[in-house]
Amino acid sequence: MMMRSFLIIILLLTGASVLAAEEAGAGHEFTADLSDQAALQRGARTFVNYCLSCHSAAYMRFNRMGKDLGIPDVVLLENFMFGTDKVGNTMTISLMKDDAVRYFGVAPPDLSVTARARGAEWLYNYLMSFYLDPAKPTGVNNLTFKDVAMPHVLWELQGFQQAIYVEETGIDGLPVKKIDHLELIAPPKNKPAAYQNETYEQTVSDLVNFMVYMGEPIKLQRYSFGVWVIFYLVFFLIITYFLKKEYWKDVH
Ligand code: HEC
Repeated sequence: MMMRSFLIIILLLTGASVLAAEEAGAGHEFTADLSDQAALQRGARTFVNYCLSCHSAAYMRFNRMGKDLGIPDVVLLENFMFGTDKVGNTMTISLMKDDAVRYFGVAPPDLSVTARARGAEWLYNYLMSFYLDPAKPTGVNNLTFKDVAMPHVLWELQGFQQAIYVEETGIDGLPVKKIDHLELIAPPKNKPAAYQNETYEQTVSDLVNFMVYMGEPIKLQRYSFGVWVIFYLVFFLIITYFLKKEYWKDVH
């Protein structure tokens, strides 16, 4: 009985992970890594320059980010803040909800905790999988988020991808066209200077890592905390060992 329920649980778990993998869309694997502060700073730079015009991140304060990522206030003011001049402010935007709905049909959601809601791998795939689709008002569609209302805002960093189709036989026996993969057909021409030396994959990876940090800023502190906890435990292990030796000396 135990064995059977155990097997059922295993089956359910593997089934769930297959589903999750299919949802990722473009099929890239991605695991967040918050250990590289320079990468997080680059991600923050991309976020404030390319996302913060439409999306807010209302739970993130500029100076909290500065403190966590080692960015001094002067640099924050000069390079990271465009809509406000108070480092204690949160990342709100001036785009009004009504206007946004008029422009895009739907308001861009706040991105503070999106990395937690969608997962890092989903986000990575989402930003990798915009492709040209003349049928859409924005001129693009997305493999991971079908018919998304967001334009391909990072086009000057990635360029444009085209969908390559394959023909398959559908359940009704008729041929159906399915997207096989995406191909870069128009690489970026004038990448901004700050991005000249990095690939689009790196840019997106840094950006997603930043968004993972933003979703749970305390994570960074937990990491450095963790190291001290391990030190403490090892230290006490040694003390306990010698204590044990001391106690047992008389018994033997
Ligand atoms: C020109 C405005 C605009 C900019 C700039 C923009 N977005 Fe969006 N974004 C949208 C809109 C509109 C939606 C809603 C799409 C929908 O629901 O169809 C959206 C949706 C999203 C979603 C899906 C959220 C969810 O969980 O449903 C993510 C993730 C996202 N954007 C990330 C980004 C990132 C990262 C950037 C910066 C690189 C960015 N966006 C820049 C307009 C924008």
